[in-house]
Amino acid sequence: MSRGDGIFREFLLKLKQRGYLSEIDEAVSPNYEISSILDGAGTRPIFFRKVKGFDGSVVGNLYSNNDLLASALGVRAEKLHERIASAINAPLESSCVAYDSKNWKINTEPDLRKIPILKHYKGDSGPYLTASIVAIKSKRNQRENISVHRMMVLGKRELAARVVPRHLGQILKEENGEADIAIFLGCDPAVFVGASLQTGPGICEYDVANTLMGGRLRLMKCEGIDVAVPSNAEIVLEGTISARKMVKEGPFVDLTRTTDEVRMQPRIVLKKMHVRQRPIYHAILPGGEEHKLFMGLPQELKVIDSLKRAVSRVRGISFPSGGCRYFHCVVSIEKRTDGDGKTAIINCFAASHSLKLVVAVDSDIDPNDQAAVEWAIATRFQADRGLVFIEGARGSTLDPSSNKKGITSKIGIDATLDVGTARTIFKKAETVRNRTVSNVLKNIV
Ligand SMILES: Cc1cc2nc3c(=O)[nH]c(=O)nc-3n(C[C@H](O)[C@H](O)[C@H](O)COP(=O)(O)O)c2cc1C
Repeated sequence: MSRGDGIFREFLLKLKQRGYLSEIDEAVSPNYEISSILDGAGTRPIFFRKVKGFDGSVVGNLYSNNDLLASALGVRAEKLHERIASAINAPLESSCVAYDSKNWKINTEPDLRKIPILKHYKGDSGPYLTASIVAIKSKRNQRENISVHRMMVLGKRELAARVVPRHLGQILKEENGEADIAIFLGCDPAVFVGASLQTGPGICEYDVANTLMGGRLRLMKCEGIDVAVPSNAEIVLEGTISARKMVKEGPFVDLTRTTDEVRMQPRIVLKKMHVRQRPIYHAILPGGEEHKLFMGLPQELKVIDSLKRAVSRVRGISFPSGGCRYFHCVVSIEKRTDGDGKTAIINCFAASHSLKLVVAVDSDIDPNDQAAVEWAIATRFQADRGLVFIEGARGSTLDPSSNKKGITSKIGIDATLDVGTARTIFKKAETVRNRTVSNVLKNIV
């Protein structure tokens, strides 16, 4: 890793220099060993210098909390969402150059056995790409759509991709079920953010990433297909995706760390493989904090946007890790009218279909402090007047308790006080702060 290697490697270097990247020199196995180390490391980014049987490295837990992602994008953590939202509103067209074989050191026939694709959990059907981004060109606007998809290895040059009905599925339908795609791994952090965003149709996520990068994104055309990829991507695979003859995909341990079922999904056949010298494979541990962050990010943005218009002042929102940053949300608001608590809850559900539980608390409660939120529920909430119950709504198939089509029930907990309520009996008492433990201990010593 050195300066001038592209923003992905530059960020790794920056993490290393600041002491945030733990490097492992011992050769480790991609079969369950790396996933186990990533799991034990929590949110700490880990760089596996040597991988048994491969000429390259693996990095994981890379953007596993807001601070790390914010630092990758060069923004303060409290401004992360605002910055991404404003980039979505002002996408900047990215420049693209013609294919140049010198850009990647190895340009060969595809062989997935040469990439350290991890086996993560015993319940999985086999090795899975988890930070793989699919780029497909829409004939409508002649721009690429990019999205992250898990991919099961079927053979040396074959994959099965999980495609939830969104833009990739739509474009595939417009192409009568078959289209050229590029898959890339190891890219600029802003590109990964772009690929995980659920922007409206017609917005090219490359351009959103380009805005986040201050116009520095450089794309390059693929060798054999009319699709552009980031020119500094570590690994690029060119091929065709087909929904004409679906293949079995799964089982796979996903976001909730429960096993997602086997489904018939599109098959990908690869035609070309481009790899940098000693590539760095980006691994995302399914159900780990990095996975939760990127799955939650688009939901958080939608909820923030919706609440801005619905209630007067939002102190903050939190998508807690226990709810996989996907199913649960806490919103802290300053009420102007008595209905604001329930209005906030309804807006959160309308903004993000994955939410199953929304808790509304007053602005004196920090939504990120789980104990404080529980305390508000314990002392301010009454189910007969504060509970919102919705049956048979759209949820997520990732939730094993939803039905097979992802239909679920939802609850909202309005733990806010009515506007005119005398606050005295609901106020948390504080001790008199003229003595502290450290003060007393110092005196003893
Ligand atoms: C780590 C990760 C894994 C994901 N896996 C899948 C997947 O397997 N299938 C899928 O359809 N979406 C998956 N997603 C979600 C999509 O990438 C995301 O919704 C994307 O914004 C969709 O793009 P679009 O708005 O262009 O349709 C994943 C997201 C992340 C961050």
